[in-house]
Amino acid sequence: MNIAVVGTGYVGLVTGTCFAETGNEVVCIDVDADKVQRMQQGEVPIYEPGLKTLFDRNTRQNRLQFTTSLEEGIKDAEVIFLALPTPPNGDGSADLSYILKVAAQLADLITDYTVIVDKSTVPVGTADQVHDTLASKISPELFDVVSNPEFLREGVAVDDFLKPERVIIGTESQRARNIMERLYKPFVRQGNPIYFMDVRSAEMTKYAANSFLATKITFMNDIANLCERVGANVDQVRIGIGSDSRIGKRFLFPGVGYGGSCFPKDVEALVRTGQDYDYDLRILQSVIEVNNRQKRILADKLVQYLGEDLCNKTIGIWGLAFKPNTDDIREAPALYIIQELLDRHATIKAYDPEAMENIRTRFGDQVHLVSDAYEAVIDVDALLIITEWSVFRTPNFEVMKSLMKQPIIFDGRNLYETDYMAKKGFYYESIGREV
Ligand code: UGA
Repeated sequence: MNIAVVGTGYVGLVTGTCFAETGNEVVCIDVDADKVQRMQQGEVPIYEPGLKTLFDRNTRQNRLQFTTSLEEGIKDAEVIFLALPTPPNGDGSADLSYILKVAAQLADLITDYTVIVDKSTVPVGTADQVHDTLASKISPELFDVVSNPEFLREGVAVDDFLKPERVIIGTESQRARNIMERLYKPFVRQGNPIYFMDVRSAEMTKYAANSFLATKITFMNDIANLCERVGANVDQVRIGIGSDSRIGKRFLFPGVGYGGSCFPKDVEALVRTGQDYDYDLRILQSVIEVNNRQKRILADKLVQYLGEDLCNKTIGIWGLAFKPNTDDIREAPALYIIQELLDRHATIKAYDPEAMENIRTRFGDQVHLVSDAYEAVIDVDALLIITEWSVFRTPNFEVMKSLMKQPIIFDGRNLYETDYMAKKGFYYESIGREV
């Protein structure tokens, strides 16, 4: 099949590359000429495990191509995916201007029946808006607008795309449904379902899924904070409740709050949708508040122990990305923690396997970035662990102790056992466990 993907962010690029992998002819379109040129020269502009291999294979076979021209890119496309940004407006709602602008442009270009697919996370009703934008210029016989939300996690996006637990397709058109089914069949061969539903339910499914997951984590963070106060251990509680299959083991790890480009934005946008329809989503409002508090928790613990004034202190940081296996720092707890430390005039030494360039862009030389984990603890008064990269899981504690000014660790991801750390001679605070 001939496919076009408009927008080459991580969703668009992964989508395009994975569809090329099953033999489709894919053209990816982006307005960023520099980025398109780099991709044409074989460079993958984002860090996503496994993507480069697929990208190389499919570009070599010319099944995956790049252009800045919408007209050229969609020329032969039977299906056009819109994977465009939907950044939050000042009021938390999603900005649809990119999507609607492209929809208007497509109306001038489409001549044969085409399926237009909303891949970005968009508020309920967006597919109808895209439909109306096109229908104001061309016959509705010429197109269908489908909602096909993605459930890709950064860091495992390729795997999630190739082996989805489910595919959600929102359309009321049988013709579009058949085309979408043909496209996705190769990815659900293990028997995982493709769920067809109406467009608005598909759009809602995406927001409900992300909001539920954000709520699950936030609930666990709240329980963890209470565990500390009552002398319980959240690790035990997590295992205890997670083994009930109605609750489930996954996504119950307490930490320094959820971040990234999806949960914060999507939870806000759903609350906003509620307001638009005069419905108060109180649980989600609390989720936002509790998560904001959780993002500061590691800095609060540090200040409580070392004192308000950090002006003569050097603090080491392990992990800057919002989660492991990505270089993404959008809404990362590290940003809030670093700002708090800078406001208190601390000196910061930080290490992250992938995200340091992004931190440099954001904070310049205010944060001293170093080239490995041990260098980040030399002469520090305390170490903060913010992201659970595998490389931090089994360090040599003897070496660390010899390098640190004081053997003090505040661990936002519960990487180590508290008893073990005490035996090794560390002052060790984590989340939801006794000191
Ligand atoms: C999330 C969803 O998991 C994807 O299904 C969805 O497609 C994506 O958003 C999106 O809307 O595009 P992602 O933001 O990449 O994916 O990251 P997650 O792995 O879901 O992690 C989100 C946040 O939750 C991270 O800050 C992570 O550290 C935190 N988290 C996750 C916890 O604190 N504890 C956990 O047990 C799990």
